Amino acid sequence: MSPIIHIENLHFTYPDGTVALRGVTLDIEEGESIGLVGKNGSGKSTLIKHLNGLYFPEKGQIVIDGLPLTEENITAIRAKLGIVFQDPDNQLFCPTVYDDVAFGPLNMDMEEKVIAQKVRQALKKMDLFDLADRSPHELSFGQRKRAAIATILSLHPKVMIFDEPTSNLDPKNEAVIADILAHLLCTRIIISHDLPILYQTCPKIVIMKEGIIDKILSIEEFLSDRQLLREHGLDFTFKCDCCHEHKQYV
Ligand SMILES: Nc1ncnc2c1ncn2[C@@H]1O[C@H](COP(=O)(O)OP(=O)(O)OP(=O)(O)O)[C@@H](O)[C@H]1O
Ligand SMILES: [Mg+2]
Repeated sequence: MSPIIHIENLHFTYPDGTVALRGVTLDIEEGESIGLVGKNGSGKSTLIKHLNGLYFPEKGQIVIDGLPLTEENITAIRAKLGIVFQDPDNQLFCPTVYDDVAFGPLNMDMEEKVIAQKVRQALKKMDLFDLADRSPHELSFGQRKRAAIATILSLHPKVMIFDEPTSNLDPKNEAVIADILAHLLCTRIIISHDLPILYQTCPKIVIMKEGIIDKILSIEEFLSDRQLLREHGLDFTFKCDCCHEHKQYV
């Protein structure tokens, strides 16, 4: 069976001359949940922005669920693959949270009744039901983050990509989001620097380094290699020490 995401020799340079991707090759099978990690600036966000045609590669090829990423296929690919961006303000632009969550399904020519049902489900899952009529710009950052996730959940795409889904969330909401991501049945790519979140949601880890894929390994291999974690900016020693000290108070 062919992979649901096929990326071959992808290169990309920003207009200011910054080389962000230097030949990324990666296959992801249907149903996999992949943790995409790497130091700040290693190219993670640039890579995923290519997968729904937000950026076009200067060289290389991308195929999503059998469709080569071309201008003509972009609409079909965006129905198959949804991205929740690092900054929720890039995702929310409607007068109300409800409208933002309904935007994707509305553009897919679904029946009104079906749209209302999908929006209700997504709002409920993200605990946003009571905020549905509010303007996204009046919400807290964490609430906007949850609203951004709901805009993709309402679409039910085959592939969901989350760029730092738990950053700036309080611990309770972190746990809620991790649980939701862990139980989604679709193919997932989760970008995170948070090892417990990765452990809970991703059996497989892809490490990026300076614009290429450096390593692919299981979450267990990844977490047990302290040197590797350190090399990729994910050494948790400081936080572990704090947790041990904190334990005496709880
Ligand atoms: N709009 C832009 N214009 C120019 N260079 C950019 C732009 N966005 C990102 N870059 C550069 O491209 C490289 C890859 O950045 P990218 O945002 O993809 O990294 P990242 O792995 O997502 O980092 P982080 O963990 O900080 O989110 C970096 O060198 C960055 O400075
Ligand atoms: Mg990023």
